[in-house]
Amino acid sequence: MANILIFDSGMGGLSVYRELKSRLPDQQYYYLFDNACFPYGELSETSLVERAVELFTSFIAQHPVDIAIIACNTASTHVLPALRTRLTIPIVGVVPAIKPAAKYSRQQQMANLTTSKLGHIGLLATPGTVSRPYTAKLIDSFAADLQVSMLGTTELVKMAEDKLSGLPVDMAQLYKLLTPWLGEQGPDTLVLGCTHFPLLADEINQCMPNAKLIDSGEAIARRVISLLVEGKGGAEQVNQEGRLFCTHLTKKARQQARAFSKEGFGALECFIP
Ligand code: DGL
Repeated sequence: MANILIFDSGMGGLSVYRELKSRLPDQQYYYLFDNACFPYGELSETSLVERAVELFTSFIAQHPVDIAIIACNTASTHVLPALRTRLTIPIVGVVPAIKPAAKYSRQQQMANLTTSKLGHIGLLATPGTVSRPYTAKLIDSFAADLQVSMLGTTELVKMAEDKLSGLPVDMAQLYKLLTPWLGEQGPDTLVLGCTHFPLLADEINQCMPNAKLIDSGEAIARRVISLLVEGKGGAEQVNQEGRLFCTHLTKKARQQARAFSKEGFGALECFIP
């Protein structure tokens, strides 16, 4: 059994946790969300690195973590190198699934030989992720032959959190946000480049029924499984319940904890670095 830490600014990491939990049910899960600094998509790169390094290193110093997952594209596309130089445990990052999306989009083009239309990938992510050099490099390396358009939004991140807290999704607002992509010229393949967005997959699908939605959750689960097979795990104590930590004990955090308890997490704890 391994102690697996999932980290995000908010509840988005749940989309990654679900992929992991269904494949690896008997591990000890820790979920840390940095609600004191939410949303990460609007932090400057310097603040993001300082915060993530401080929080992560102190959490790992105090808890028996075997593998850590940065279940946040906004952080992974910028802070992974800094974290990896400070920590010796394996750290798995989540970055936008441009490569599989490009493959799918090309296959679509080839299957539909009657049109000469260029494949079109949409990247839906946070304002931070769409502006990262790392993201530009991913697009350059894997999708240079395709049309790629990006949409950076924090509103959708908040919408996903509200949905998990039991509030209805405002479909009119969602349609409005996705307006640039509605209609015939829209993407055939849509990368959900923020871990919050798979939590709204049904609603996004309703707005864009012809686009294939792709996220990184399954690939992350496969990567974690391969690391465990390599023998990186080894926790002594196994707790049936996951342990849930926020960085600011607010009324909203307690409400969020209810959604986590439905997924197997215990009482909300507060971790201040
Ligand atoms: N869930 C995070 C991601 O994957 C971002 C949310 C935020 O902006 O804090 O990018």
